[in-house]
Amino acid sequence: MGEPTRDGTKAPCTRRGFVARAVSTSVALPLILRPREAAASEEGTNEMLTAPNTTETTIVLNVNGAEHQVAVEPRVTLLDALRDRLGLTGTKKGCDHGQCGACTVMVNGRRIDSCLTLAVMHEGDRIVTIEGIAPEGELHPVQTAFIKHDGFQCGYCTPGQIVSAVALLAEGVAAERGAIQKAMSGNLCRCGCYPHIVDAVLEVQAQR
Ligand code: FES
Ligand code: FES
Repeated sequence: MGEPTRDGTKAPCTRRGFVARAVSTSVALPLILRPREAAASEEGTNEMLTAPNTTETTIVLNVNGAEHQVAVEPRVTLLDALRDRLGLTGTKKGCDHGQCGACTVMVNGRRIDSCLTLAVMHEGDRIVTIEGIAPEGELHPVQTAFIKHDGFQCGYCTPGQIVSAVALLAEGVAAERGAIQKAMSGNLCRCGCYPHIVDAVLEVQAQR
C-alpha cells in the first residue's frame, strides 16, 4: 500500500497495484491448469468442467475491534471476506471493479474500495465497516445528518457514503462544499442524492 493521501481523495489502493497483484496470480494459474486440461482432453474426460483444487488459508482479520479467524483462498477480496465469510453485509457490492465506492471500508483510518484488495493482505490491519461506525447502537452524527438531509433514496450506496464521509471528516481536509464534493467523488449515487449528502457532511463539519 502507498502513503496515506492528505488531500481527502481515496486511499491509494490503486488499480495499477491491484492489477499487478492479480497478474502475478493469474499468470501462474494457466501454467498450473494447462497440464490438467491437456490430460483431461487426451483422456476424453470432463475434468475440465470441474473446479480446480483450491487452497484456503486461515487468516485473522481485525474488524470493528474484534478479531476473526477466516478461511479464505488467496484470491478472495476483502469485500467478499467481509460479506460472505463474516456476514457483514452492510458493505455493499456495486460494480466489483473499483468504480462505485459502494464497498468503501476504512483500513487503518483510510478509505479503500474493499473490492480492489485481497483479504490476505489485511492481517494486522484495523478494518472498520459500516457496522462499526456506531458500535454502541447510537447513530453516528453522520448517520443522523444523512437522515435529516434526505441523503439517500434507495440507500444502496449509503453505507459506503457514510464510511467515506466519516473518514473524510477525520482527515479534516475538506471544509467547504467543493472540497467535500471532490473528496467524496469516489462514491457514486445512482439516485442522485449528492447535494443532500454534501449538506449532511457540511452540517457535521460545522459541529466540530
Ligand atoms: S463495489 Fe467496490 S467500488 Fe464498486
Ligand atoms: S441512494 Fe440510491 S444509489 Fe445512492
